[in-house]
Amino acid sequence: MWVRCALWGARAGSQLQSGVLAPCRRHGGAASYSASAQASRVRALIYGSHGDPAKVIELKNLELAAVGGSDVHVKMLAAPINPSDINMIQGNYGLLPKLPAVGGNEGVGQVEAVGCRVTRLKPGDWVIPANAGLGTWQTEAVFSEKALIQVPNDIPLQSAATLGVNPCTAYRMLVDFEQLKPGDSVIQNASNSGVGQAVIQIAAALGLRTINVVRDRPDIQKLMDRLKDLGAEHVITEEELRKPEAKNLFKNTPQPRLALNCVGGKSSTELLRHLAPGGTMVTYGGMAKQPVTAPVSLLIFKDLKLRGFWLSQWKKDHSPDEFQGLILTLCDLIHRGQLTAPACSEVPLQDYQRALEASMEPFVSSKQILTM
Ligand SMILES: NC(=O)c1ccc[n+]([C@@H]2O[C@H](COP(=O)([O-])OP(=O)(O)OC[C@H]3O[C@@H](n4cnc5c(N)ncnc54)[C@H](OP(=O)(O)O)[C@@H]3O)[C@@H](O)[C@H]2O)c1
Repeated sequence: MWVRCALWGARAGSQLQSGVLAPCRRHGGAASYSASAQASRVRALIYGSHGDPAKVIELKNLELAAVGGSDVHVKMLAAPINPSDINMIQGNYGLLPKLPAVGGNEGVGQVEAVGCRVTRLKPGDWVIPANAGLGTWQTEAVFSEKALIQVPNDIPLQSAATLGVNPCTAYRMLVDFEQLKPGDSVIQNASNSGVGQAVIQIAAALGLRTINVVRDRPDIQKLMDRLKDLGAEHVITEEELRKPEAKNLFKNTPQPRLALNCVGGKSSTELLRHLAPGGTMVTYGGMAKQPVTAPVSLLIFKDLKLRGFWLSQWKKDHSPDEFQGLILTLCDLIHRGQLTAPACSEVPLQDYQRALEASMEPFVSSKQILTM
């Protein structure tokens, strides 16, 4: 039996195939057909070479391709600009797509239609990328079903758009490296980053206490108050952490056995100094573009462990079902009001230049989210 198999979608670099609907064979037989359908106009942020995002990213119209039986037509709703998106465009990330490519590794879309062999998704569902490199900065697209993970569509849009990378990273780092129990503490730098805000909230939900290091700025009190509202126990500047009085922090808070390093350079050396003997520092970002330097004495006399984390590697080492499970655990926290989206600024897709610039500025403290 042949089943008429929808539909329209957009693929970067694909040709407009006016009116072609993909045939779908369920139980043998041989036939094919074509029919007319209206193609919608897709706009996408595309780069054809690596370099400064402000120079190489362009807003272009994409041509549409028919949707195959295992494909899903998705209307993108919102997609953030993360440092990894910028690094990917610059050409200095651990995973680079073939060029030309649509930018954006993260975001949420709504399923418009599904091919006839799609079993897990239906129109109206919300989906996020299963892996990095999908190209989320576009108004709509056709993806294969296995490239997508469903998320509940009753969570806030900003939470869904920013769920698949930073909160997942925060959760894994908090539970996979040290066996912490309620009352234990964790220290981190760049605590106002997307990951940092997720760490604060997930740690609080797990009963862990956090010591949060941030860079000083003119309106530091405002930032400290915001992070404390999220559940941070201590918020301290890089400069304060270097002073001898920083030891006072540990009069009432246990020394951390886990440090989460987003920065590198001197900032990470300071985290190491405050770790408990035998503790672990997990490096997941290198915002200062400086190497991690570990004093020999800390390695010998405190036996500290230096580890790294990359979510893309975690996904390679785990099944899609385990990733879906992680997403559902985080959605439970969202439903319970224990995990909110990072501070965000929504920017319409056509104003992408403004959003790209803001995403690379220091001290902005607001995740840029492109809305479609
Ligand atoms: N390994 C993984 O699997 C994984 C997963 C997710 C994210 N990441 C990485 O984690 C990092 C943060 O990502 P995000 O999306 O959370 O970032 P984000 O929300 O854009 O925040 C960036 C953070 O970096 C800080 N920062 C920027 N330049 C800095 C510098 N020169 N020195 C010290 N701090 C600096 C900012 O602090 P100010 O406010 O002071 O500017 C801010 O706290 C990125 O490196 C990203 O690639 C890694």
